[in-house]
Amino acid sequence: MTMPFTMTSLRGAATEAIATADLDRKTGLAQDAATRWFERRISLRSPLDPKLPDRPGRPEKPELVPPTAVKRRSLHSVKGRIALLHAIAHIELNAVDLALDIVARYASEPVPHSFFDGWMQVAFEEAKHFRLVRDRLRAMGADYGDLPAHDGLWQAAHQTRNDLTARLAVVPLILEARGLDVTPSLQAKMRETGDLESAAVLDVIYNDEKGHVAIGAKWFRFLCAREKKDPAETFKQLVRINFRGPLKPPFNDLARAEAGLTPSFYRSLTAVSQS
Ligand SMILES: [Fe+2]
Ligand SMILES: [Fe+2]
Repeated sequence: MTMPFTMTSLRGAATEAIATADLDRKTGLAQDAATRWFERRISLRSPLDPKLPDRPGRPEKPELVPPTAVKRRSLHSVKGRIALLHAIAHIELNAVDLALDIVARYASEPVPHSFFDGWMQVAFEEAKHFRLVRDRLRAMGADYGDLPAHDGLWQAAHQTRNDLTARLAVVPLILEARGLDVTPSLQAKMRETGDLESAAVLDVIYNDEKGHVAIGAKWFRFLCAREKKDPAETFKQLVRINFRGPLKPPFNDLARAEAGLTPSFYRSLTAVSQS
């Protein structure tokens, strides 16, 4: 079998997946790259690797709008549950590109190979999440692309493109940790409405996301130790510079702590306590 040259290295494969607009192909490439990397069938880098694009490849739909233009609806209607699942599908899709972006962008960083194992596991699972949510949307008579979505997630991450420690502070430790805070109540509401299939999809996501925050916290602490910096203090500084607005309680302290994200990281960054 002949492979396209970009697939001979992890960085090349990740870049190709990011650039791909077809979402079946993008998620397939992400999972394929992860599998090849885990089996050590591809190198980390190659001189032939293509340049990382500024923006990920995306289909024409959904239309991207400002975050405030995305409507929220009650989960008691099918329309409301579709809107929520659509928003989650969009988050998962961004998460695929963001995990791959960490791998491709920082492939020359002096870190152990297990760093890339961790982020490729994340990329693999985000691709799985996107497909699970998309399948659920289709089963409900909808599809990803039917509703507008916002671009805030990619922008928040793009701002940290020159600093790996800041990227880890924002993506896994703020954005993905936020998922741990909000998902249990969404699961409960889905069950209340009798939509057990959607609740089951959220279950899979929730359990995997604990692992993503843990991978983020592990490597954030690693980078801080290498620079001889205090992780909680460094996190606070990076969040103030790189993230707009306070962090929103309530926090899922238990799930966060299990992932290695203790309250000393985030407590003082909330709106209520600035002390
Ligand atoms: Fe996810
Ligand atoms: Fe994730």
